[in-house]
Amino acid sequence: MNHSCLMISTLLVMAAAAFAQESAKLIKFPAPDKNGGIPLMQALNQRHSTRDLADKKLTKELLGNLCWAAFGINREDGRRTAPSARNWQEISLYLAMEEGLYLYDAAEHALKLVVAQDLRKLTGMQEFVATAPLNVVYVADTQKTGARPGDDALLYLGADCGFIAENVYLYCASTGLATVVRGMVGREELAKAMQLEPQHKILLSQTVGFPK
Ligand SMILES: Cc1cc2nc3c(=O)[nH]c(=O)nc-3n(C[C@H](O)[C@H](O)[C@H](O)COP(=O)(O)O)c2cc1C
Repeated sequence: MNHSCLMISTLLVMAAAAFAQESAKLIKFPAPDKNGGIPLMQALNQRHSTRDLADKKLTKELLGNLCWAAFGINREDGRRTAPSARNWQEISLYLAMEEGLYLYDAAEHALKLVVAQDLRKLTGMQEFVATAPLNVVYVADTQKTGARPGDDALLYLGADCGFIAENVYLYCASTGLATVVRGMVGREELAKAMQLEPQHKILLSQTVGFPK
C-alpha cells in the first residue's frame, strides 16, 4: 500500500470511528411492539425478582419496548403507560449501561446520552449491578410536582415511581427477562456521577437482564 492509500484508509477509519461515537449520542428506537408478550394474567403469575443474570446484552428492540412499557406515551395527548399524580410526569428514566448513561426521551422514543461513562457500579450496593446489562435509575424532578397545600409530595413521588417499576416487572415477566427493583442505592455519589441538578431526586433503581 502506497503512502496516499494508507492516508486515505486511516482517514476513513477515523471518520467511521467518529461517526460511531456520534451516533451513540442518540439511540432512536423503532416503534414499540404492542402485540408482544404473554397475556397479563400469566405475566402477573410470573412476576418475581431475580438477581441472577446472564452475561448477555439487551437488544435495542428490547430496550425500546421496555422503556415504552415503563413510561412511554400511549395517548395522543402525551399521557403515559403509568399514571402520575395530577399528571405531573415528574419521573425520568435514566439507563445505566456499559456504553454510558442515557436518558429516555418519551416524546422521541429515544435514548439521549448524558454521561459517556459506565456508571452501573454506582447504581446500587449489590455486586450484580456492576455487570448487569441495564440498571434503570428513576429520578424525580421535584420542580415538576407543583404540590398544593395538603399534598404529601414525597408520597406521590414514591407512588408514581412504583407504578413505573411495576410496569417494568410486568414487561420483564411477559418477555422472559429478569429484573429486581432496588432501594439500596448510594444516592449522593450516584447523583454526582449522573450530573443531576439539586431538584432531581433519585428514588429507586431497577436491574434488568436475561435470566441465568
Ligand atoms: C421499594 C423496594 C425496594 C427494594 N430494594 C431492594 C434492594 O435494594 N435490593 C434487592 O435485592 N431487592 C430489593 N427489593 C426487592 C424485594 O426484596 C422483593 O420485591 C421482595 O423480596 C419480594 O420478592 P418478589 O419481588 O420476587 O415478589 C426492593 C423492593 C421494593 C418494592
